[in-house]
Parts: sequence; C-alpha cells; structure tokens
Amino acid sequence: MTKKISLLLLVTLLCFNLSKADEGMWIPSLLKKYNIEDMKKAGFKLTAEDIYDVNKACLKDAIVGLGKAGKPFWHFCTGEVISDQGLFITNHHCAMGAIQSHSSLEKNYLRDGFWAMNRGEELANPEITASFLIKIVDVTSEIKEVIEASSGDGAMINKKAQEIINKAIQGTNYKANIKPFFNGNQFFLSVYKIYKDVRLVGAPPVSIGKFGGDTDNWVWPRHTGDFSIFRIYADENNEPAEYSKNNKPYSPKYSFTISLKGINEGDFTMVFGYPGTTKEYLTSHAIKQIIDIENPEGINIRTKKLKQINASMEKCEALRIKYSAKSASVANSWKKWKGEIKGLNRFNTVEEKQKLESKFVDWVSQSPTRQAKYGNLIRVMEKFYNDRAPYLFAKTIAIEAGLRGAEIIDFAIKVESFVKDFDSEDKSLKYIENRAKSFYKDYDMDTDKNIFIDLISHYKEKCEPRFMPDELKNIKKEDIAKYADKIYAKSLITNPEKGIKFIRNYNSKQYKKLAKDPIVKLALSIYNMYKTEISGQLNEINAKIDAAYRLWVAGLMEMQEDKVFYSDANSSLRVAYGKVGGYKARDGVYYTHYTTLKGIIEKEDPNIYDYKVTDKLKELYRTKNYGKYTQNGEVPVCFVANNHTTGGNSGSPVLNDKGELIGVNFDRAWDGVMSDMKYDPTICRNIAIDIRYALFIIDKFAGAGHLIEEMKFAE
Ligand code: ARG
Ligand code: GLU
Repeated sequence: MTKKISLLLLVTLLCFNLSKADEGMWIPSLLKKYNIEDMKKAGFKLTAEDIYDVNKACLKDAIVGLGKAGKPFWHFCTGEVISDQGLFITNHHCAMGAIQSHSSLEKNYLRDGFWAMNRGEELANPEITASFLIKIVDVTSEIKEVIEASSGDGAMINKKAQEIINKAIQGTNYKANIKPFFNGNQFFLSVYKIYKDVRLVGAPPVSIGKFGGDTDNWVWPRHTGDFSIFRIYADENNEPAEYSKNNKPYSPKYSFTISLKGINEGDFTMVFGYPGTTKEYLTSHAIKQIIDIENPEGINIRTKKLKQINASMEKCEALRIKYSAKSASVANSWKKWKGEIKGLNRFNTVEEKQKLESKFVDWVSQSPTRQAKYGNLIRVMEKFYNDRAPYLFAKTIAIEAGLRGAEIIDFAIKVESFVKDFDSEDKSLKYIENRAKSFYKDYDMDTDKNIFIDLISHYKEKCEPRFMPDELKNIKKEDIAKYADKIYAKSLITNPEKGIKFIRNYNSKQYKKLAKDPIVKLALSIYNMYKTEISGQLNEINAKIDAAYRLWVAGLMEMQEDKVFYSDANSSLRVAYGKVGGYKARDGVYYTHYTTLKGIIEKEDPNIYDYKVTDKLKELYRTKNYGKYTQNGEVPVCFVANNHTTGGNSGSPVLNDKGELIGVNFDRAWDGVMSDMKYDPTICRNIAIDIRYALFIIDKFAGAGHLIEEMKFAE
C-alpha cells in the first residue's frame, strides 16, 4: 500500500517537474542557481558552465544576436556559429531583406537562391550587425539604490545606468546596455562585442526557404527549408571593423558541433537565443483588450492591405521581388494575431487570469502589511485599462491604417523631417538621396495608391471624430479614390524620378514647396494628430500601468514563493528547454513530431506559388540522392518540440542533450501561438528545420560542399 502511494507520489512529482521544465526563458548566468538540476533530470548531459561561463569558451560564445546598424541591441533574429571561420546559420526569413536587396530581375537570388562558391563572392550587408554576449551581470542593487534615493527620478537612474555601462566597457570595444527584468523588479547589464562586416554566403531559392509561404506560416506540419548562411568578418586582430576587402573571416571562441545522429520523440532539446517580447504576467484586463481591440483591429486593416499587395505580387515577377519581404512581414503578425485570439479564447485565459487575480486580492486582504504595499492594485489596473481603451483603438488605426499604411506616408514624414533643418552645407542630403533610392527601388505607385484608398477609407469609417486628422475631416469616404488619384498625381514624392530630383536639388527655399505637397500635408496631419492627441496620453497611461505591473509581479513572486519565476523576454540572451514531441492539436487530430522530403513532394502544386517544387529537388527525391542526411531512409525536414520561444528566437540553435546542433528554430505551431501570453506545454510547440535538411540542401541541391567541409560533426 505505502509502496503504491509513494509510486503515485513519484509519478505526480515527475509530471510536476516536467511541466515546470517546459515553460520559461531562462537567464543563462542563473541556470546554475535555478535550472540545472531540472535540466539534468530532463536529460541534459552538460554543466551550467558549459552553457555560460565568463572565463572559458562555452556555448554562449557561438550565439549570434542579429541587429540592424542603428539598433544593434534589438535582436531581430538569432544565429549560431558553425565553423571556425566565422560561418553562421540563421533563417531564410531573417535574411529575406538582405537577399531581396541583392536581387534584381537579372540576378534573382530570391527566386533562384544564392551560393557563394568562394569567399570573394560573399555579399556584404552593411545594415546587419552580429553581436556576441561577453557577459550578463545582475545590477539590481545598484540601480535600486538610486531608484530609492531619488524617488524614481528618471534622469538620476539613467545617469547611474550610464556609469555602470561606462565602467563595464572602459578600455574595450564592447557595447553594453542595462535592461529591466521581471517588470522592473530586477536589472541586468549585458555586455556585447558587435561585429559589423556580415556577408551573405548562401540561401536556398524561395521555393525551399519559404516553401509553403504565408499559407503554411505558423502552421504544423511544416516543410519549410527556412535557413540561410552568413559569414562574419573581422580585422587582422579578429576585432570588429567596418566592411573592408582586407577583413578576414572571424575566428570564433566557440562553434557548434553538428549531430547527424537523429531526432526522436522525447529527446531533450534546448533553444539558446534572443527572444524579443513576451507578456506572460498580463492581467485579465490586458488580455481582454488584446482579444477585443488590438488584434481584431490590426487584423482588419492588414487584411485589406494584404489583399492589395497579394494582387500586385501575382501580376509580375518584378512586383513580386519588390513586395516579397514587405508582404511576409505584414502577413506574419496578421496571422499570429489571429492565432493568439483563438488560443487565448480556447484556454479561457481571461477567466484563468481573473482567478489568479481574486486569489491575489484574497491574499492581500489577509495582512495589513500586504494591504499597505499592494492596496487595491487589481481595481486600479482595471481603471487604467478602461482609460486606455479608446486610445489603444485610435492608435491601432493611426499606425496601421495611417503611419504604416500606404508606404508613401511614412516616407513623406521621413523626407520632411530630414530636410526641415537642412542647410546646403549639410552632407546629409546625399544620405537622404540614398535612403530615397532604396525606398523607390521597392516602391510601386499603383499598388501603394490602392492600399491608400482602402486604408484611408477604413480610417474615415472607424476613427472617432476627436482623433480624426484635420486633412481627412472634410473628405467623404466615397470620395477617397478620387482624392487619392489627385494627390498621388500631384505629389512631388510619389514618382521616383521627380522625388529623387527634388531631393538632389533641395535647398531650404524649397521647403515651402514640400510643405504644400498634398501627401506631405496629409502625412503630417496624421502624425500630428497621433502625437498630440493619442500617443502622449497613451504613454502616460502606459507608464502608470507599467508601474502597476512592477508591483503586480513583485506581489505574485511574494505570493507564490516556491515557484521559480522567469522574466518576460526582452531581447536578452535566454535558454529554453523541453522535449521533442508530437501533440494532440484538436479533437481527433494528432501530429507527429517530424516531417520529411516526401511531404514536400506530396504538397507540391505547380499552380500555387507557395507550393512549387523545383525540378532539381524532385530529381534528388526520385533518385534518392540523399547522402548521409537521412533517418530511417528518409530526409527529415522539420521537427517540433515544446521549447518556450517567441519572435527573435528565429534562427536560434536547437541543441541536443550534449549541446550539439540538431536544428534551427523558425516558428511556432498554430494551436499554441498564444504562448507569449499563455504557455501550455501540451500544445505549444516551437518549429525547427532539421539541420540535416539544411545540410542536404547545401550539399546535394546547391553543390556547396565546400561549406560542409568547414563544419564539425559529432562522432
Ligand atoms: N512565423 C515565423 C516568424 O514569426 C516566420 C515568418 C516568416 N515566414 C513567412 N512565411 N512570413 O517570424
Ligand atoms: N518566426 C519567429 C521569428 O522571426 C520565431 C517564431 C516565433 O515567434 O516563435 O523570430
């Protein structure tokens, strides 16, 4: 009897531990303290120091944070080093902008793929940076000291933060930042070395790299070869340098060993990368606004935008090149928002959160100290969110249908703000001209005008009068098409030749002319309305909400003192771990954990752009020319596991129990995309490309075996 009970207890304990393991994005420097025991139980074979150590080479030294030149700390994707000559792998969709910028009708790398057959052919991307984390340090006590002493004075806190940063990077070429964690209850310093010469080495054709396109995006089962290869270059001392012909391939501190041994249900996996944003501690009020306001309105507007973009892309290859990266990014959030609403509703997230909130209210009421500290926090939050609702709706319209609706609006604002204070000595005119050229390269006036008509009509229909920009006040919704014809024809900037000429010959006397431009006038009118009546008010409310969240998360941690909390993602380096595994998606639907090349052939449909398969790939399939990239005689393509990931984790390495590379993360599965707000281990799955499929494409499809030779494989 006792034996039975203790067995039962053991089983429950085990289950408890397992579910605990799957959720969370952990700070690498704290694994030793909080997670390593649990990770070992889940099958991990290395030590916490093998993952993160400031004194010796470790897995972290092979993780690349991909940034943009002006924003190196906001990692839009992750990559991982896979050779001792600076080669790294990331996703195709992370490289989409770069591939597209090198593409033209003559050299259509997007359609045909690109493979540098020697170092000289690798393509520079001045806009991309690659950062390596040197260390992450808890600076909570120093920052909190100032917060307390200055009663939260922003300037004093920033000054202190800057001091800490300066001290950390003194005498080095490092860059550093300090970010709040746990909603402002803790602070960590991250120190990076940032490389600036990052070259494109290889990318499969879009029919492989984006197979399934936006139809299969956020969906499992998946057959996308979503990978691309880059190389980092450094100066002769292996240090960061601007692009130069004389730079040399970067020699990394660590590069991943690749495992070809196979992936099986239940295997331990770990994802190591830069998740961008999650909101796991939102209250029920916030979830309601996502379900009722933010997501639906964003979806409505983007549905209209995508209809126009897709219609243009179907017209000709030139338009397809111009709009492919843009359409992918518009469609990506559009679809995710839909999945989030579905998942949040399906898991009764609002009610779940309400339960937690009542528990909290009860808990607070039990002690005067708690009452003094937390007061009526939940009721106060509710009020803040009520105040926020109309502004949130107005913002969604102003941004989605206005400022980021038709592209010409954003461009008009940029041009105006650049030239406004311009005097003819200023060299920046050349800069504006270059920016304008790259804008026009992918601009199509007719497509943009169609988007404008649909989105500005939506604006007129949905926006409250008090938030309506002046320029739109006196136009009737029915007249918007005519209005668009008129202003697109008349504007100085809708036509590339006219636009470039105007910018090139600009001097301050012409400002008046620009200010009278009908598109510039409209753009500024939307912008001013947004600035004066919406964003300021919203920021004020959001600041109050943020302060409330600091208390809320502190309160949750106090109330559930046995629970190990993880901080929401904030584009800092994190580790997630879990297991490979299929899942029951819906009633009667069970998905296996992997897909194969056979599935690509099954999905093929020459009439649908997203499902075209090249002859070369079909030939490899027919002749079973698979090389060593197989499991049970088939070429594996993708697999799923329940690592907790989000946007920014794209391109992150998926590692096995020995820290060897088995896949490259690129997506999440439809039924679990609400995981940024509500993670559920039974249904939330990250999707990775099996590394063997990437190698098969590099080796057999592209004939770029010289790249394989650079890599290191597990015995
Ligand atoms: N959903 C993935 C992510 O969030 C992939 C996006 C790119 N792919 C696409 N078909 N749009 O970024
Ligand atoms: N595709 C996402 C990215 O670009 C990763 C998928 C996710 O959001 O989990 O980072």
